[in-house]
Amino acid sequence: MHDTLKRLHGGRRGTGTTLDRFRLNELVSHIAFGGRRGRVYRRIVSLAGVRPGDSVLDVGCSGGYLARKLAAAAGPSGHVTGVDPSQAAIGYARRRTAGTMTFAVGVAQDLDLPDSSFDVVTCTLAIHHVPARQRAAAFAEMYRVTKPGGRLLVADFDPARRPLPLHPGARRMHRAAATVGPLERLAAAAGYRVESSGQLPLLSYVQAIRQP
Ligand SMILES: C[S@@+](CC[C@H](N)C(=O)[O-])C[C@H]1O[C@@H](n2cnc3c(N)ncnc32)[C@H](O)[C@@H]1O
Repeated sequence: MHDTLKRLHGGRRGTGTTLDRFRLNELVSHIAFGGRRGRVYRRIVSLAGVRPGDSVLDVGCSGGYLARKLAAAAGPSGHVTGVDPSQAAIGYARRRTAGTMTFAVGVAQDLDLPDSSFDVVTCTLAIHHVPARQRAAAFAEMYRVTKPGGRLLVADFDPARRPLPLHPGARRMHRAAATVGPLERLAAAAGYRVESSGQLPLLSYVQAIRQP
């Protein structure tokens, strides 16, 4: 299992650890959430406050698991954009795309998207892939593309809990909490007003607003 997780996380360095083995990641995720992944991600959609007609961005979308749930909440008049550095994951997400979804290759810290263009920005389990020194840039980019009055929901391994001993990403999140601080601090430093933060199985999350 340890070797599997190391291989899974052994992607491109410098800008982040890209996950090309996204199907394996899906399996590991289902196991890690102990059968509760669907419930946890439905709660994430609800915390993100997606409304029918919203324009939503999912950063680090992998094969589009959360993006499809977001699209269901945004409805036929909404739109979901997914961004991930893995060409393989984006290819898979595109093959499973509904008409209201667009997927593009890219990284959180350099989003090739217009300013103030999304009502909601989500980012789940991807921040631990971004090198610690680039996480502030990733939040600044998410802020830039959020509309004034728009909402942010970021969730990742909870650094306050003992890290999953075999998971390199959970250990990275734990170490980085000491230097770059928790998700709330990163969101506030980017300019968001933090509305709430809390815990979900495995994860901590921050919910924030770009002030109108
Ligand atoms: C553990 S997966 C999480 C996928 C999905 N968001 C979820 O919650 O299931 C992490 C994803 O982050 C992506 N990633 C890696 N570096 C990134 C970066 N710099 N910016 C955005 N995403 C990144 C990986 O390619 C991978 O698809």
